[in-house]
Amino acid sequence: MSQSFEQLQETLKANPHTWLVTGCAGFIGSNLIETLLKLEQKVVGLDNFATGHQRNLDEVQSLVSPEQWANFIFIEGDIRHLDTCRTAVKGVEYVLHQAALGSVPRSLNDPITSNDVNVGGFLNMLVAARDEGVQSFVFAASSSTYGDHPDLPKVEDKIGNPLSPYAVTKLVDELYARVFAQGYGFKSIGLRYFNVFGKRQDPNGAYAAVIPKWASAMIHQENITVNGDGETSRDFCFIENVVQANLLAAVNMPESGFEVYNVAYHAQTTLNTLFNYIKEQLLANGIHYDKAPIYADFRKGDVRHSFANIDKAKTQLGYEPHYSIVQGLAKAMPWYIQFLK
Ligand SMILES: NC(=O)c1ccc[n+]([C@@H]2O[C@H](COP(=O)([O-])OP(=O)(O)OC[C@H]3O[C@@H](n4cnc5c(N)ncnc54)[C@H](O)[C@@H]3O)[C@@H](O)[C@H]2O)c1
Repeated sequence: MSQSFEQLQETLKANPHTWLVTGCAGFIGSNLIETLLKLEQKVVGLDNFATGHQRNLDEVQSLVSPEQWANFIFIEGDIRHLDTCRTAVKGVEYVLHQAALGSVPRSLNDPITSNDVNVGGFLNMLVAARDEGVQSFVFAASSSTYGDHPDLPKVEDKIGNPLSPYAVTKLVDELYARVFAQGYGFKSIGLRYFNVFGKRQDPNGAYAAVIPKWASAMIHQENITVNGDGETSRDFCFIENVVQANLLAAVNMPESGFEVYNVAYHAQTTLNTLFNYIKEQLLANGIHYDKAPIYADFRKGDVRHSFANIDKAKTQLGYEPHYSIVQGLAKAMPWYIQFLK
C-alpha cells in the first residue's frame, strides 16, 4: 500500500524535488504550484496564457512566502513547440502535465486547435520527458473518455465511443501514453478528472465551467440557464482532491508502465441539485438568489450522466478525497464572492 497524502507531504518537505507543471497559469495548474511551493518544492511552470491568467500566478505569489516563490521558475511558452517542451523538462524529476484546451463546446467549434494542443502538444511533452529521463509523468486525462458507455459508476477499463473532439483528444493521449510505456518503457499515469471545481477556475467566457459560471451569475443576480432538464448528473470534484491525486500519482509510477485512474469524489449530483447547493452556499455568505432557473436545449456532445468508481485510485495510489461537493463549495464560495465583487 502506498503512503498516505499526509505522509507524502512530510516526505516531500523533508526531501524537496524538482517539478514541472504545464498549464500552471490555469485553474488546476495554479493550485498545483501553490501546494508544491508550500511544500518547499522547486517548480518550473509552463504556460502560454491561452486560457490561463497572470492574475492566477500573482495570487499564488501572494499566498506563499518570498523564499517559496523564489523556488518557482516561469516559462511563457507553447507546448506545440517541441523545443519549448525540451527546455521546460530540463533537470525536472516529476512532470504534472495539465496544459490543454478544455471544454467540449470549444472543441466542437474549433477541433483543429484543440487537437494541435491536446494531441500534438501532448506528444511533444511525452517525447521531451522521455528524452530527459524524468522520474515520472502524470497527465490530465478526462472523464469525457467514457463517452457513450452506459455503465454507472464508471470503471477505468470500460469506455465507450467519444462524443466530442475534446474527448477524442483525451483518449488519444491515453493511447500515446500506453504506447510510450510499451515501446520505450516510459512510465506515466493519466488522471481522468471528473468536473473539477474550486478557486481560480475561470467564471468568464463562453467556455466557462458550470460551477463558476452559475456562482458568478447568481452573485450578479442574473438568470441561470440549464442545458436540458436539469437531471443531467456529474461527479463534481473539489480541487484539493485533485491536487492530492496528482502528488500521489507522481510517486506511484506503475509497474505496468501506464495506468489511468478516475479522480472524483464518488457522488452523483444533478444540475438541479447543484443549483440549490450553490444557492445555499451563497445564502450562507449573505447573498440571496430567488430566481428560478431557465431550462434550454441539451448541449451537443455532453455526456448525460457521469459518476465515478474511485476504488482503483484508492487502492493503488492511496487516494482519499477529503472534500465532498458541499464541503468544496463551502470553501470555494468566499473566493468567488471576493473575486467577482
Ligand atoms: N477542470 C475540469 O473539470 C477538467 C476535467 C477534465 C480534465 N481537465 C483537464 O485538466 C487540465 C487543466 O484544466 P483546467 O480546468 O485547469 O483548465 P485551464 O484552462 O484553467 O488551464 C489550462 C492551462 O493550459 C494552458 N495552455 C493551453 N494551451 C497551451 C499551450 N499550447 N501551451 C502552453 N500552455 C497552454 C492555458 O493557458 C491554461 O493556463 C486540462 O488538461 C483539462 O483538459 C479538466
